[in-house]
Formats: sequence, C-alpha cells, structure tokens
Amino acid sequence: MATQQKSSNSLKAVRGTRDLLPPETALWNRVEATAREVFARYGFGEIRTPIFEDTQLFARGVGDVTDLVSKEMYTWADRDRIDRAALRDAWWKEAKQGLEPLHEEKSDADMVFRHSNGGITLVNFAERASGEAGRALWHSVKAYKQQRGLSDVVGTLVYPEESVSEGIPRELLVDGSVDSWAVRGNFFASRQSLTLRPENTAGVVRAYIEHKLGDSGQLQKLYYIGPQFRRERPQRGRYRQFWQIGCEVLGPVSSGSESPVRDAEVLEMLASLLDQLGIRDWQLQLNSVGSAEDRKRYNAALRAALEPVKAQLSEDNQRRAETNPLRVLDSKEPADQEIIDALPKIADFLDADSAAHFAAVRAALDACGVAYSVNPRLVRGLDYYTRTTFEFTVPDGSGLGTQNALLGGGRYDGLSEMLGGPKAPGIGFAIGEDRLILVLQEQDGREGVNGPHPEWMFAQKLDAYIAPMGVERNAAALALARELRRAGLSVEVGDGTFRLKKSFEAADQVARHIVILGEDEVRDGTATVKTFATGAQVKVARAKLIELLRQK
Ligand code: HAM
Repeated sequence: MATQQKSSNSLKAVRGTRDLLPPETALWNRVEATAREVFARYGFGEIRTPIFEDTQLFARGVGDVTDLVSKEMYTWADRDRIDRAALRDAWWKEAKQGLEPLHEEKSDADMVFRHSNGGITLVNFAERASGEAGRALWHSVKAYKQQRGLSDVVGTLVYPEESVSEGIPRELLVDGSVDSWAVRGNFFASRQSLTLRPENTAGVVRAYIEHKLGDSGQLQKLYYIGPQFRRERPQRGRYRQFWQIGCEVLGPVSSGSESPVRDAEVLEMLASLLDQLGIRDWQLQLNSVGSAEDRKRYNAALRAALEPVKAQLSEDNQRRAETNPLRVLDSKEPADQEIIDALPKIADFLDADSAAHFAAVRAALDACGVAYSVNPRLVRGLDYYTRTTFEFTVPDGSGLGTQNALLGGGRYDGLSEMLGGPKAPGIGFAIGEDRLILVLQEQDGREGVNGPHPEWMFAQKLDAYIAPMGVERNAAALALARELRRAGLSVEVGDGTFRLKKSFEAADQVARHIVILGEDEVRDGTATVKTFATGAQVKVARAKLIELLRQK
C-alpha cells in the first residue's frame, strides 16, 4: 500500500511527451548528423527560431480553420505587459518642471535629466514599485556617480499606482539615492497570446521577413532540427512533443524560388537522404493543389459536391465540409471513403501555369530517376500550401502503427505576403524525426535497400573498461583513463572496491576490452588486457596499450 501511494505521487513525463535515453539518443544524433551532412552538400544553412511565437503567426500563417490551429495548439496569455511609453508620457506631464532631458548621456537608466538645482536625476519606468527595480536603479545611480565623479545624482523610479507592489526597500529611499513616484492611470497593454510552435515553416518565414533576408536577392536555403508541439491524441508515432528535421527554400522570384527545379531538387535531396539513412520501401506521393485562385474554385466545387451527401458523412467530415472542404479529402475515416473517391479532382481545376509547373516538376524527377506516384487526394492539412504538395510514406508494418507519413511538405508561394512580408515563393518539408527513428529501429538488423545497415545503427561499445584492483589503484586508473581518452579512445573507469568478477561483468557489458590495473601493473608500467571478442588475455607495456585497444 505504502509503495503504491509512493508511485502514484511520483512525477512522470506529461502525457504525449517522453524522455529519449541512451543508447537510443546515439541513433538520434547519427540521424541528425547525416541530415546536416546531406543538407550542407545541397548548400543549406541552419536556422534556429524560438520555440514559442506570437499566436497570430500561426493563426495567419497556418490558418485559423485548420485542425492544427483550432484544436491542437498550446496557447497561453503572457503576463501583464507595461506600456512604458504611456507611463513615461503620464509622468512627464506632471514632472517636467525644472527637468531638462540630457539625451546624449549614456547610462543604464531609461532617461537622464539635469535638475534646475544642477543635480542629475536618472529615471526608470518599472512595472511595479519593487525592490528589484529599486535596487537596479540604485546600482545605475552608483555607477553613474563613479564614472562621472559626481555627488549630486539621484534616481526616480516611476510606476503605475495600481501596480501590485512589494515596495522599494526603505534603505534606498532613506539614503536619498532613489525616490519613488507613482502615476495614476492604466498603463497595462493587453496580454500577449503566445503559442508553442506546432510547426516551423511559419517561424522561418517570419524570420525571413524580420531580417530582410530577401534583400540579398539570393535564394535562402535554410534547415532546422527541433521540437514541435501539438495537442493530438497520443499513439505510436504521434506525440505531443515531437521532433522535426525540416528545410525551407525561399526568396524573391528573381532568385528562381518559383522554379519547378527547386521542387524537384528538394524531393531528390529527400530521396537521397532516406536512401543514405537506409530507409527501405519509401514512397513519394505527389500532387499539386494549384494557385490560391485554383483552390478557391476547387473549394467551391467540393462544397457543391458535398452538399447533397453531407448527412452521410462522419461528424468530423460534416464539420469540415462546411468550414474547410479540402480537409475532407485527407480524412482516413473508412466509412467516408466511397464518397470521397467520387469527389471532383484538383487536377481538373489547375490553371495553365499551375499545370505546366506540375508537369515540369514531374519531368525533372523523371530525369533524376526519383520514383513517385501522383495522389490527387494529397492536399495536406495546412492552409499555406500552393501548387506542389508531397508526402513520403512507408508501407504498413514499417513500425509506425497507423501513421504512415514519414514527412510532408510543399510549396507556399503566398505565405510571406500572408504574414505581411514581400513576395517570396518557397518550398519546404519537415521530417517527423520520431517516426524516422521508429522505422529505422523496426528495420534494425535487416538489410537496407543499399546493402546492410551502417554500423552506427547498432549500439557501440566503448574501447576499454579500466578495472583498478584495490582503492590504492583508483588514482592511477583515472590517470590512465585520461591518457587513453586524450589519445581518442572511449573509456570507462571502474572502482577499486569492486571484486574482479564484478569488474569483468561490468566491463563485458559496456566495453570491448578490460584493462586490469593491479599492484604489479602499476609498478611495472604495464597493463593486463582481455579482449572479450576473442577471449585472449595479454600483459602489455604501456607503450603498446593504445595500439592494442584500437584494434577492432
Ligand atoms: P506536417 O505534415 O504537419 O507538415 O508535419 C510534418 C511531419 O511531422 C509529418 O509527416 C510527421 O512525420 C511529423 N509529425 C506531425 N505531427 C506529429 C506528431 N504529433 N508526432 C510525431 N510526428 C509528427 C509541417 O509541419 C510543415 N511545416 C512541413 C513543411 C515545411 N511544409 C513546407 N515546409
């Protein structure tokens, strides 16, 4: 009973999140290293955007009516924000008598004034009359006095009268370094709504706009590796915190960002990456959802076609038929499939430019020998897509349960404008890293398409385990470990309290060799080494040790 209670009290990782532990993390690192290496070969540079962003970014970029934005985001209202400009204006109205602003003065304070009596006043605008804000101002007053050799310097802390206050410490007020000034009025701006990123494309495009990356005139080729957050129902291959490895290629039209060659190049790179990782039997599903105009016409046609059959659809699809009819197409609801198959196809709604673009993407893929199948139902779940959309899937039984999309992506020619930026057509993808790992683990030990799986997919043993015989040898063991590690070997050190049998058992689990360091070995400058693979045991001079341990 007591233990039961204890376990129910102990904290666990939140539902849908998980810990990644060694040795599995070695596989994650190798996958990431391979991705970085491949991306570098294609001229990509890494971008790291924040994990949370203003909610508006996703509402506008990904689309309010998508499941992702309407149901799956982790969103919260941030703390009150003080409107410092309004606070400053209100205070200045009352206080300006006898204060002359010194704009050129440099200090940590928000503003610096000369007082009519010749003294200097440093002013800080704070969220509340707190000790923290008071002390910060007191420090800048002190620094200012010292730097300029002045004595007649005071600080004024200005804060909204309504603000919750822990108070400015009395000693700061009493010694005259800081005085306090409460201003009446509402100086709190509305709370900012923040969201944990559910995907990274909107963040990358926001950064592209913010840093004016388009001004260089060059095509931007950016990749990212990092966690994303979606409040989905957890299952195998679907988590609430999951990792994506993604790329985005975007730029002004003059940089060639709209060219079908970009699409084909991205897809060819993905095919090569999956092959290099040893993913077998992947399939590239390809489609074009046309321009924004084409989609509008297609949406209208879908709505019309769904109207008479709506009542027969599942509840979710009935809702989608109203709000976002495109979404009905990628529904996996078995009962609805017959109706969905009979719906109009997007291909019949593409204008001449979109059709030609799609044909050119396919021709370039054919020229590269990258196999694909056109899937007219692949419209994808996010609103920003235009023209090319794609997914790489793996067959059932590849380790993903009911999730078969290893990665997804497409073109988003209007996204930058949707976010208030310049025209910057682009294309990108995101691989579900968790899913990629699940598939690799499922294939572990079996032959990959391009021959056997690389050695790194299997847990690696250390080169050596050093077993000091008796605690008197502990220090010598650590010194030897230092020498070996600095020579590039991977080494674990046991402990002199362990019996020989225990050392052997521990060593056999983690290392290829055990290095026994007894009294004799330390005295003679030798080591006794056993190689587990062959069972051979030898005593070697220290000079020969590194060479022996390096042998595979
Ligand atoms: P997405 O299709 O929403 O696209 O996600 C891409 C991939 O992330 C999926 O194919 C899947 O492998 C993985 N994924 C999604 N949700 C989960 C989850 N809950 N658990 C585990 N893995 C998941 C995007 O996110 C777009 N930003 C891709 C893109 C980049 N389009 C253009 N550029």
